[in-house]
Amino acid sequence: MNHTAHRLPPQSLEQTFSVTFSYPVYFTRGLFSPDNSVLRDLFRQAGERRRHRVLVCLDSGVASSIPGLEGEIRTWFQSNAEDVELMGEPWIVPGGEAAKNDPERVFELIRVAMRHRLCRHSFVMAIGGGGVLDTVGLAAALFHRGLRLIRVPTTVLAQNDAGVGVKNGINSDGVKNALGTFAPPFAVINDADFLRTLAEADWIGGIAEAFKVAIIQDAAFFEGLCRSARRLRERDEEAMEELIRRCADLHLSHIRTGGDPFEFGRARPLDFGHWSAHRLEMMSAHRVRHGQAVAMGIAVDSVYAGLMGWLSEQEVEAILHGLEECGFPLWYAENDLRDPSGRRCVLGGLEDFREHLGGELTVTFPRGIGRRHEVHEVDLAQMNAAFEVVRARAGR
Ligand SMILES: NC(=O)c1ccc[n+]([C@@H]2O[C@H](COP(=O)([O-])OP(=O)(O)OC[C@H]3O[C@@H](n4cnc5c(N)ncnc54)[C@H](O)[C@@H]3O)[C@@H](O)[C@H]2O)c1
Ligand SMILES: [Zn+2]
Repeated sequence: MNHTAHRLPPQSLEQTFSVTFSYPVYFTRGLFSPDNSVLRDLFRQAGERRRHRVLVCLDSGVASSIPGLEGEIRTWFQSNAEDVELMGEPWIVPGGEAAKNDPERVFELIRVAMRHRLCRHSFVMAIGGGGVLDTVGLAAALFHRGLRLIRVPTTVLAQNDAGVGVKNGINSDGVKNALGTFAPPFAVINDADFLRTLAEADWIGGIAEAFKVAIIQDAAFFEGLCRSARRLRERDEEAMEELIRRCADLHLSHIRTGGDPFEFGRARPLDFGHWSAHRLEMMSAHRVRHGQAVAMGIAVDSVYAGLMGWLSEQEVEAILHGLEECGFPLWYAENDLRDPSGRRCVLGGLEDFREHLGGELTVTFPRGIGRRHEVHEVDLAQMNAAFEVVRARAGR
C-alpha cells in the first residue's frame, strides 16, 4: 500500500494519470499554393492510412478580403484528394466578436459536423481571427468530445497569441469568455500572407500582446519592440513576422514550462493588463477591439506598478511611449463611466477576474521590466490614480 492510499478514507480509490500533449506551430507563406507542402505533410504524418475528412471553417472577413481563397482551398483539396476529403464547401463563420457573441454559432457548427458525419479522427480546419478560432475551437472540442483542430490564424493577435494556445471560448450574458474549454489543437499554421489584408486596427492590435509578454518575461524583447515600434506601425512585414515568432514562442514556452497549462491555479501571467481590457471590450460593445483594450490595460497596470514602486518612472515611460509609438490610443471614453456609487465601472473588471479565477483575486504585475509578480489585493485609490494619469497623458 502506498502512502497516498494509506491516508485515504477506507471507501476511496486513488486515480492519477497524466497525458502528454504536443502540437506543432508552423510558420509559412502561401499555405494553399501547389508548391507549399506544409499541409500535405501534416495530413500524411497523421498517418492511419486513411483519407482524412476535413471540414474547413472560414472567417467571413478573410473570405471577403481574399476573394480567390475559397477557390484556392477547393483546388488544394482536389489536388490532394488521395490524402484528404473536403467535407462540403468551406463553412463561413461571421468574423470578429460576432462569432463569439451568439452561442447558436457553436450549435450551428456542430450541426454541420454532424451532417458530414465527422468522427473523432476527422479534422476541423479553422481559418480566421481569434474570434472565429475561439468559436470553431469550442464547437470542435464539444462534438464527440473533441475533433482534431487545425488552426490557421489570420490576424497578428491570433498568430502570436490567441491561435497558438490551448483555450477556446465564447461570450455569454455579457461576460467575456464565459463558456469555453481547454483543448490543445492538433496543429497551428501561421501563414504571414494573410496579414496583408488586415485593417489597420487588426494589424496593430496584436502588438499589444507582444508588449504584454515582453514586459513580464523578456526585457530584451521589450527593448526590441520599442526600437521597432515605428516600423511596426508602418506595416513593415519583416519586423512583424519577427515579433509574431518571438511572441508565439514566449507564449508557448509559458504554457509548456509554467507548470499550469490548464490554469488550475489562480495565477494567470498571460493575462497581465487584461482585467480592465475585458471589461472595456464588453462596456464598449466591442467597439474597442481586444488588442487595443489590452494596450490600455497594460498602460494602466504599468502606471499602477509605478505608483506602487514596482517599476521606475523611466520604465513606465518606456512602456507608455512604446505603445503610443505603435499607434495605440491609451484612453477610451468608456473608462469614465461610473456606477451609482460613483466608482469607475471598469474597476468591476477586477471582480470579474476574481470570479473567473475562482475565489481569490490574483493579478500579475511587472516588477522591473522582464519580471513579474502576483498580487492578491489591488489598492483601488491608487488604481484610480493610475487611470487618471493615463487619462491626463492622453489629453482627455
Ligand atoms: N483563446 C485564447 O487563448 C485567446 C487569447 C487571446 C485573445 N483571444 C480572443 O481573440 C479575439 C480577438 O481576435 P483577433 O484580434 O484575432 O480579431 P477578430 O477575430 O475579432 O477579427 C477581427 C476582424 O478581422 C477580420 N479578419 C481576420 N483575419 C483577417 C485577414 N487576414 N484579413 C482581413 N480581415 C481579417 C475578421 O473578420 C474580423 O472582422 C477576442 O475575442 C479574444 O478574446 C483568445
Ligand atoms: Zn489577450
